[in-house]
This record gives sequence, structure tokens and C-alpha cells, in this order.
Amino acid sequence: MTDPQPKGVLTTRTMAMPADTNPAGDIFGGWVLSQMDVAAGIRAGQRAQSRVVTVSIDAMSFIRPVKVGDILGVYTHVTRVGRTSIDVRVEAWVRRGRIGIRERVTEGTFRFVAVDDGGTPKPVPDLTDLPDYAREGSEST
Ligand SMILES: CC(C)(COP(=O)(O)OP(=O)(O)OC[C@H]1O[C@@H](n2cnc3c(N)ncnc32)[C@H](O)[C@@H]1OP(=O)(O)O)[C@@H](O)C(=O)NCCC(=O)NCCS
Repeated sequence: MTDPQPKGVLTTRTMAMPADTNPAGDIFGGWVLSQMDVAAGIRAGQRAQSRVVTVSIDAMSFIRPVKVGDILGVYTHVTRVGRTSIDVRVEAWVRRGRIGIRERVTEGTFRFVAVDDGGTPKPVPDLTDLPDYAREGSEST
């Protein structure tokens, strides 16, 4: 059977643990959101070739619950680059109980701003100025 395909590049992968549950026993939405922020921040930092800060989160949907023992894979791709800002579309998928079917559980768009060491916004470089590894998951792919 062919699995449905996530959009974007696999950026992080981790297992949902019992310590991350809400009172109902499912995984806490804030934990999933933070995994997405980390992955999106990696993608944006590579695109910016600098430190980035999260400035907004849009169109966030929690589609299916995440359960203890699920493998959470976070897929990212850059959808827009402004002067100093970068939008990263994020999809989180789980492999149920490590080996089960793959399902999309959440998605959203994270906006980052490239900043210097003092936290002041700085321009995002042209795609052509990036090293090869940083072009993966960029707006051109
Ligand atoms: C991100 C930050 C440096 C921007 O500072 P600023 O003075 O608003 O900077 P600017 O007005 O020059 O805007 C910079 C870019 O951010 C975008 N931006 C600023 N505020 C935004 C918002 N609320 N939503 C979406 N985009 C925003 C601007 O459109 C601009 O994009 P562009 O250069 O591509 O056109 C500042 O808001 C900040 O430090 N925020 C806190 C970030 C943080 O700590 N994140 C972690 C949260 S726990």
C-alpha cells in the first residue's frame, strides 16, 4: 500500500512520550506546536543563514490527535521570502505506534524574521547566495 505523501522536507523526527500528555491521555497540543516551531526555525535559519525569531503563526490546524508512542515527523518548506521575513509551511505527520499507518496530524504557517545578534531585523540573502544544503526545502523547490 502506498502511503499518502507529506509536502516538504523531513526536518525533525521524535517520539511522543507519556510526559507530553494532557489530562485526557492524548499528546498536549502545545508540545506538538513547539516541535513544529523548532523544525520551522531550523528551515528558516538555514534559509536566512542567521538567527531567526518566530513572529507569527497562521492557519494552524489540529487535524488528528497524537498518541503516546507515535513517531512525529515534521516536514517544512519555505513558501515566501520578504525583505527580512520568511514563511515556512509546516506539516506534522505521525507513524502510529512507531510502525502503523502514516497520518497528517497538524499543519500551519510560521513566519520568522532574520535578526542580527542584537535582535534587529536583517535582510534575507538571495537564494543564489545560499550553500546547496540550505536550498533544500526553499521556495524554489
Ligand atoms: C520580529 C521583530 C524583530 C520584528 O521587529 P519590527 O520592529 O516589527 O521589525 P520590522 O517592522 O522591520 O518588520 C520586520 C519584518 O517582520 C514582519 N513582521 C513584523 N511584525 C509582524 C507580525 N506581527 N506578523 C507578521 N509579520 C510581521 C514585517 O512585515 C517585516 O517583514 P519584511 O521585512 O519581510 O517586509 C520583533 O517583533 C520581535 O523581536 N518580536 C519578538 C520575536 C520573538 O521573541 N519570538 C519568539 C517568541 S517566544
